[in-house]
Amino acid sequence: MKLHLGAFEQIHPGWVNTDITPHLYIARVPGLPRLLEAAGLLNERQIRCYRDGVYRQLNRLDVSRRFPFRDGSVQAIHGSHMLASVPRDVAQNCLNECFRVLQPGGVLRISIVDLDQAVADYNPESPDAFVDLMFCLDASKKAKNRNWWHYNERSLADRLRIAGFQVIERREYRKGRCPDVEIIDSRPNSLFVEAMK
Ligand SMILES: C[S@@+](CC[C@H](N)C(=O)[O-])C[C@H]1O[C@@H](n2cnc3c(N)ncnc32)[C@H](O)[C@@H]1O
Repeated sequence: MKLHLGAFEQIHPGWVNTDITPHLYIARVPGLPRLLEAAGLLNERQIRCYRDGVYRQLNRLDVSRRFPFRDGSVQAIHGSHMLASVPRDVAQNCLNECFRVLQPGGVLRISIVDLDQAVADYNPESPDAFVDLMFCLDASKKAKNRNWWHYNERSLADRLRIAGFQVIERREYRKGRCPDVEIIDSRPNSLFVEAMK
């Protein structure tokens, strides 16, 4: 079993794609997406995702809770730009749970905004771009989509070590040990880290 955390609209074929977005419930109520569309409550991208069945492929998994899987039962875990969306204690719970459910030899692949790169890219001529990246990755103004925290390679590795991982390696875009690595990465300018159990 391969587990995808905080998938949102990125469905990995052959993976268990999970999130907590309300879209996954709405998608399961016949007629409701059409109703919301008619009421003007969905944007173009959401309409397309409902029509393509994207949200129906999501399963609910809240990374602040215990994962509903047995110890050592998961082959690989992937999370893309999800850790920043939760407070640090929730991120730690998530990494602890990843370690618990991964099978020996299993791999966790995390991609996130690289804090070092973001700081290096800061341009005093356009400070808003930096602030937007720090607090609100998708530029949405909704509070639930805010970013809570950011990591560089060192602080992410520290968190992974606390979770129990000992082999932690920085990776390049679409390169690494994680299964399907050529297709699961979608954000080239990220920090990619793999941790092996
Ligand atoms: C910035 S989006 C990233 C979406 C996608 N992985 C990508 O790279 O485009 C962060 C995702 O994390 C999800 N998320 C936030 N809190 C979560 C939680 N407690 N458990 C699981 N997913 C969560 C959000 O619903 C959202 O879909």
